[in-house]
Amino acid sequence: MKGVILAGGKGTRLFPLTKTTNKHLLPIYNKQMIFYPINTLKKAGIKDILIVSGRHHAGHFLELLGRGEELGLNFSYTIQEEEGGIAQALALAEDFADNDNIMVILGDNIYEDNFKEHVESFKGGARVFLKKVPDPQRFGVAELKDGKIINIEEKPRFPKSDYAVTGLYFYDPEVFKIIKTLKPSQRNELEIGDVDNRYILNGKMDARFLNGFWTDAGTFESLHQASRFIRKKHMEKKRMI
Ligand code: DAU
Repeated sequence: MKGVILAGGKGTRLFPLTKTTNKHLLPIYNKQMIFYPINTLKKAGIKDILIVSGRHHAGHFLELLGRGEELGLNFSYTIQEEEGGIAQALALAEDFADNDNIMVILGDNIYEDNFKEHVESFKGGARVFLKKVPDPQRFGVAELKDGKIINIEEKPRFPKSDYAVTGLYFYDPEVFKIIKTLKPSQRNELEIGDVDNRYILNGKMDARFLNGFWTDAGTFESLHQASRFIRKKHMEKKRMI
């Protein structure tokens, strides 16, 4: 399995911080944001990783990460020229994936869980990871029936559950065919939720629940919350030594 980090977009919700750097290079406690999704993939046993970034400050990713050998990883890079949505960014990974299954993570999502077991058990279709949240309106929200996912709604005004679809996805190569059939949403983006709904319709979606901490870091509040969590983990580790 290969890994894809989606780090495009403008980061407008973090203006003016993102006027002078890319959102995914902002600090979360003691490291740049991008290191957390990299580490989530690394802990899952994935070595070949494509980073899709916007053009904005794209060279800084190369400066920071290089080929990845210091981390025991192998990085490839590409650029998403417009901000056409998460599914549009993912479409750029087709050649890199080369018919392999992929683990995709949004560059601003911070996970405590380890996904190694999922990398080993995933055979095909798609898998998403849900987390109960107090503010589901901010996310893609899962509609559940008998513990199974039956639909995903992107940022609903009246959410059908408290379960956010978090920013980590497993897909088989079918995903690229599905993206090619998508139409832009009302906000003019190719939505990852539409990709997932197609897998649900085809009976090929498997939803799991996260155990550990999870947050995005795309707003001032969530960026701060992510830093607080990482600092706490850091302090716990220090106390153990
Ligand atoms: O954080 C989880 C949520 O992420 C999910 O619950 C939603 O279903 C999903 O749509 C997404 O919602 P956001 O509104 O938070 O997405 P945002 O536009 O902030 O983009 C998240 C990351 O995706 C961003 O850090 C980089 C990547 N991205 C986004 C866009 C719009 C791209 O690579 N290219 C893009 O064009």
